[in-house]
This record gives sequence, C-alpha cells and structure tokens, in this order.
Amino acid sequence: MVRRGIVTSRSVHLTTCQNGPSRRGVPSESESWLMLAAVLRNTGDTDLDVTDTIEVNDPGPDDVIVKITHTGVCHSDVSAMNGTIPQPVPAVLGHEGAGVIEAVGDNVTEVSVGDHVIVVWSPPCGACQFCVGHKSPNLCTTVQFGSMMIPHFREGGSDVNAMAGAGTFAERTLLPKQAVVKIDDDIPLDIASLIGCGVMTGAGAALNTAKVAPGSSVIVYGAGGVGVAAIQGARIAGAAEIVAVDLNDAKLDDAKRFGATHAVTPDDVEGISAEITGGDGFDYALECIGNPITMRAAFDAVRRGGTACIVGVGRPEEMVQFSAFELFFMEKTLVGSYYGGTDVRSDFHKLLRLYKYGKLDLEGMITRRITIDEINPALEAVRRGEVIRQVIEF
Ligand code: APR
Ligand code: ZN
Repeated sequence: MVRRGIVTSRSVHLTTCQNGPSRRGVPSESESWLMLAAVLRNTGDTDLDVTDTIEVNDPGPDDVIVKITHTGVCHSDVSAMNGTIPQPVPAVLGHEGAGVIEAVGDNVTEVSVGDHVIVVWSPPCGACQFCVGHKSPNLCTTVQFGSMMIPHFREGGSDVNAMAGAGTFAERTLLPKQAVVKIDDDIPLDIASLIGCGVMTGAGAALNTAKVAPGSSVIVYGAGGVGVAAIQGARIAGAAEIVAVDLNDAKLDDAKRFGATHAVTPDDVEGISAEITGGDGFDYALECIGNPITMRAAFDAVRRGGTACIVGVGRPEEMVQFSAFELFFMEKTLVGSYYGGTDVRSDFHKLLRLYKYGKLDLEGMITRRITIDEINPALEAVRRGEVIRQVIEF
C-alpha cells in the first residue's frame, strides 16, 4: 500500500529549501529525500515493488538531484527485470526521464536549481578517447561505469541501485552533472522524457548510425517506441519506402501514422521485398526488437552492400549465426547502434527542434499517461507489445 503523505510533505519542504542559497536545495542532516519509487527486488520478478521507503542519497560536489516529473516505460525496463540486460538488484528501474533540477553539488555550474532537464543514461565525460578522439561520445563509459554505478538510493541502511545509473521510476534521482541535458522551459516534460531513451535510440539509429540516405528503401523490425522513432528517423532522412514489420496488427496501423509507407507481419516480408526491391533486398534494415531471429531476418532483408543496423537488445548469451562465406560475398554492413550513436549535448536539441516544427511526432507516441501505481500493468502491456509509449507522471 502506497502512502503519499510523506511525499507531499517532502515536496513542500524541498521547495522551501531551494530558496536557501547556502544549502543549494540539499536537505539538512536530520531530514531525508524519502519518496515513492518502483523497485526491482529480484531478477526474474514480474512485478516491481512500488514503495515509499526509498531515499535518494545526497549529491556529491559534481552531482545533481532531479525531481522526475515524467518517465517513459521502455522495453529495456522489462529486459532488466527478466535478466536480458544485466542489472544488480535491488534497483530503482527507469532510464527514460525528464524533470527539474532540485539540488546541485558545490562544483556544479552547468545547471541550476529549477532548470528543466532530460536524463541521459549513458553520458559523455567529454574528455576521454571515445568522447574526443573517436568522436563516439555515446560509447564513453567513464561516467556511466564510474559515478553512475555507485548506488544512488538507500532503504533503511541498505544500498539500492539505479537502473543504468539513471533510476527514473522515482520521484527524484541523483545523477552526475554530465547525465542531464538542459532544455528550454517551454518544452513539455512528458515529450522531453521520450527523447531520453526510445526516441534518441530509434531516430538516432536511422540518422546517425545507419545514415539512411534520401530516396532509399528501409525496413524496420518492431514498431514499439524505438521502432516508431526509427521509422520517423528514416522519414526525416528522406527514405522513399519505409516498411514496418510487427507481429501485432494494431502496430502496423500505428507505424503508418508515423511515416511507414508499408506495414506487414513477418510472414509478408518476402512479398513486400519483391514488390519494392524486386527481391534484391532493402538498402537498410533496422532491428528494433532485440530478438536473435529478427536480427538475422534484418540481415537477410538487406541487399548486397546494404546495411543491417541492430538497435534492439538481446540477452548476452544469445547468438546470431552468419555463414563465413556470406559475410564476404554479400558485402553487407552489420552495425550495432548504442543509444542512437548520439552526442546527447547536440542531438537532444536537434530532435526537440524537429518536434517543434512538426517533423517529429512525439505527442502521438504517448499511448497513455499513468501514475507510478500503474507501473505493473504498464510493464505487462509492454510485454504484450500493445503500446508505443506509456509515460508515468509524478
Ligand atoms: N516479430 C515482429 N515484431 C515483434 C516480434 C517479432 N518476433 N517480437 C516483438 N515484436 C514487436 C512487438 O509487437 C512490439 O510492437 O516489437 C515491438 C517492440 O516494441 P516495445 O516492446 O515497445 O519495445 P521498445 O521499447 O521499442 O524497445 C525495442 O530496443 O532499446 C531496445 O531494449 C529495447 O530491445 C528493445 C528494443
Ligand atoms: Zn530505453
């Protein structure tokens, strides 16, 4: 049973605290950041524990506390629950979030209390070889495997982890300063939250990783939040044909709303390929499911010299097979896409500008708005493939 009274009184207190410049929003030692959160107790659990027993730790000098206002429910949350994505427990799940800075550490000058931000689950440190030399800041692990993996929360005297170092299924979370991107105050925070994972991942895969070319043919496997974002990325890139593939008929209709020119179940891929490409195969395939069978199908669906881009996350022990001859003979590019190949510091703003001018439909991606108490039915809807995105409002 969830009691909200504690949280309400905390929220009032924190607002008052923000006015105290010396404390910069941090509660006094006798007080705490007790709040509502959805916790994975054991890997394999099918339900999260919605509890008001979690406290967020105090920010260090380079940290911020974000009051989460909105957080999307992503398939990766389900994958952390079932062990597909390794996640030490107990953990506050959630990694696709936006909110308002509530406190900052003494060294933080980049953002201030009251700023609106998107949470970044794989932030660039800005200085390492991946950030600077390789120009792949999405692959920087310095911050994520460093300060983000230190438990952010506690319950009684015990540590509680944060999924991917983010832990957005909570009223507030603790983040290193690199893990927030400040946005304009007039951007709705529900819309902004989607950018933090699914939209950046899917659209970025099409735009940054696969680099879909104008006039090309694209096939997208999976029309959930990530797949719909990939479809929109391909549309923005100027693809001529965009084929959505999904098991769920309702998703096929959805996909067309976002720019798919064709939408089929897996059984009809060969037919649509014959119709569009004469059987040669598509220029690009984007796998947005995380299943080894559809990863292999995506590779098969592209033409000689085409690009198969793997966006979905499968289990570490699952394998995909390729013939040693076909890799040479077909000259296909097989590329993984991690967080849409993004530099969040510029890409989040680019996506928000596309949204602002009506070129990226984010509002239409929100299937329903829910409260944290509805998280378990929401996770079940994700497992059933019924939704594009559900956004929790705190
Ligand atoms: N063939 C076709 N479609 C499938 C199949 C399949 N074998 N299995 C699932 N689907 C469809 C579902 O019906 C659903 O519409 O794939 C879609 C997946 O969407 P979501 O569950 O909303 O997942 P999403 O959040 O988009 O994430 C997709 O990207 O970031 C990763 O971890 C994430 O691996 C996951 C993937
Ligand atoms: Zn995600």
